[in-house]
Amino acid sequence: MLRKTAVPDEELEKGRQAALRLHDDISFRGLSYFIESYGCQMNDHDAEKLAGMLHACGYRRAEEKLKADLILFNTCCVREHAELRVFGNIGALKKRKEENPSLIVGVCGCMMQQKDVAEKLFKRFPFVDLVFGTHELHRFPALLESALNGERTLSVTQSDGEIAEGLPVERSGRFQTNVTIMYGCDNFCSYCIVPYVRGRERSRDSADILGEIKALAEAGFKEITLLGQNVNSYRGDGGQTSFARLLRMANSVEGIERLRFMTSHPKDLSMELIQTMADCKKVCNHIHLPVQSGSDRVLKRMNRGYTREKYLSLVKALRESVEGMELTTDIIVGFPGETEEDFLDTLSLVREAGFSAAYTFMYSPRNGTSAARMDEQVDKAVKKGRLERLNRLQAELLRQNNERYVGKSGTVLVEGCDRRTTPMAYGKLTSFKMVYFPGDETLEGQLKRVRITKTQSNSLLGELIEG
Ligand code: SAH
Ligand code: SF4
Ligand code: F3S
Repeated sequence: MLRKTAVPDEELEKGRQAALRLHDDISFRGLSYFIESYGCQMNDHDAEKLAGMLHACGYRRAEEKLKADLILFNTCCVREHAELRVFGNIGALKKRKEENPSLIVGVCGCMMQQKDVAEKLFKRFPFVDLVFGTHELHRFPALLESALNGERTLSVTQSDGEIAEGLPVERSGRFQTNVTIMYGCDNFCSYCIVPYVRGRERSRDSADILGEIKALAEAGFKEITLLGQNVNSYRGDGGQTSFARLLRMANSVEGIERLRFMTSHPKDLSMELIQTMADCKKVCNHIHLPVQSGSDRVLKRMNRGYTREKYLSLVKALRESVEGMELTTDIIVGFPGETEEDFLDTLSLVREAGFSAAYTFMYSPRNGTSAARMDEQVDKAVKKGRLERLNRLQAELLRQNNERYVGKSGTVLVEGCDRRTTPMAYGKLTSFKMVYFPGDETLEGQLKRVRITKTQSNSLLGELIEG
């Protein structure tokens, strides 16, 4: 948990030098790139770093995948569905590569961190030029240089991963963005592949994190989400700085108006953190707190480290301490051995907890995880039926939850304008609820007071409160 190793400066310098060597030629030729990213926000943020390195190499962003000179797949392997999509989409490029042999195709991300999968893909798709794992991100410019020189490269190391500070980042948002505070995961939930592909937990130093947040504030960003697979176990500065302390420090950065964080693990959510959320004005009244199941028996087999009762007591403490607190969650149905009774426990927990959103998944066996080796795998049709029942319940609860907002007011950070019909500005309340209201692009990036007038299926409708 306390381990933190920095990528040596010489290694980072190799990447910078490769980018410098490539830059003039690539930009003279006007080459463009397209990154297709799968998976979670950690992967999205890696994609922003890959884009940053590509800009340093002289590439510009392509509008469309098929017009790009370099296509990079940033993969995820958390569920089988994500894997199958990637294989399909890579295979579909074969023809494009035959038409344009100078096209560079790269594959990286979590799925490639599984050595056997990376090797299989490298063999199966001879037109793929480079494959690299999550621990090789900073080597990307050097690997790309080899690919441009006609060498096919497969580079996957099994190290626990190091932290590479100072990589260039090309951010996709203008007002809201993510800052990674820690990498990896040590929890080994029995269904999950993330600890195997992202390595052991390692936290960035608080000075590096705060430096990044300050620079983002100066660049006009208003909302920051602190990212990690389990931010509650952040231990920065050689173990001295807790997540609650980091959050207090971030709360004092001038120019930043809102702070969010994800993901929180219930077993590590401390009373100190709940108090910090209550004390810090900029910390939003929303938490993503994956519960996974409402059955103690299943939670135990999942190796989650908390009970249903403990989870519900956290929900209670959060609601009592933070005004207007909203919770979102992740739930898996059909975990090996899950009975109808276990599933009913999940439904009843969902009712009791009152989530404003639940991301729900059918259990997907992942090679190498302990749950994949468990007996009593649940039938696909049963999983499907449970997922549908759970989603139906959550949709109804969401409708009721949204109704409570009607007539109330709140502040929206305007993200953009939807012009499909009359121009509607949109953005989120601090509670993570999306609101649409009459307005245009001139409001983008501003914090606006709105009154909620109506609900829609997944969002709220409102009107601007003038003045
Ligand atoms: N670190 C985060 C989530 C990482 S993965 C956390 O601990 O909450 C995001 C979600 O994918 C998980 O919360 C879980 O609900 C789901 N998930 C992970 N592995 C899965 C599997 N094998 N099958 C189905 N869903 C899975
Ligand atoms: Fe996976 Fe559990 Fe770690 Fe989340 S906490 S990434 S679910 S092992
Ligand atoms: Fe997927 Fe890797 Fe995230 S497996 S969910 S992209 S950490």
